[in-house]
Amino acid sequence: MKKLLFVTSNGRKFSEAESILKEYGVIIEHRVARIGEVRAEDCETVARHAAEEAFSRFGKPLFVEDSGLFITSLGGFPGPYSAWVKSKLGNAGVLRLMKGVRDRRAVFVGAVAFRDGKRAKLFVGKCPGRIAEKETDQGGFGFDPIFIPEGHSKTFAQAPELKETLSHRALALRKLAFWLAKSKRD
Ligand code: IMP
Repeated sequence: MKKLLFVTSNGRKFSEAESILKEYGVIIEHRVARIGEVRAEDCETVARHAAEEAFSRFGKPLFVEDSGLFITSLGGFPGPYSAWVKSKLGNAGVLRLMKGVRDRRAVFVGAVAFRDGKRAKLFVGKCPGRIAEKETDQGGFGFDPIFIPEGHSKTFAQAPELKETLSHRALALRKLAFWLAKSKRD
């Protein structure tokens, strides 16, 4: 396959994906586009629709990705509304909602939707963890400064090397890479 397009308006997502997929010999090219998100309860549906829309726009093999942070004690909120919550409340607002809450469990979910002329495939990665008590200073993007992956004590913002191995996006992208390698062999 020639270069695979990653259609996203988020340059940080692109850099993460580029570095992960390179290890598997998958070279990707960035296409910056704002694809309208359908209203849905899950990232999988949003990603599937976005891949269709992106393919109708670019007409080349591509993938898109949609993520969400699902906080257990908030009934999965913000989940599919993560981008909106991040832009309106920010990490400080999420921490306010979690003030005094002892159960701080959360799961990051990332859905990668691949589309070419013949195939539509979906790969999902989940990263369990917890919401930090305080926002950490630097690094990462989005909720990285308040998300601590399970079994660790640093946030994703403090430990980008952890993010590369066990983030929701890294897991979903590795599934994509394995599938691409397998479909090349078949
Ligand atoms: P979307 O997938 O771009 O719709 O992301 C939803 C929200 O989650 C946005 O506010 C992103 O900044 C945030 N987000 C997505 N991926 C990550 C991540 O890997 N770490 C932290 N926040 C993320």
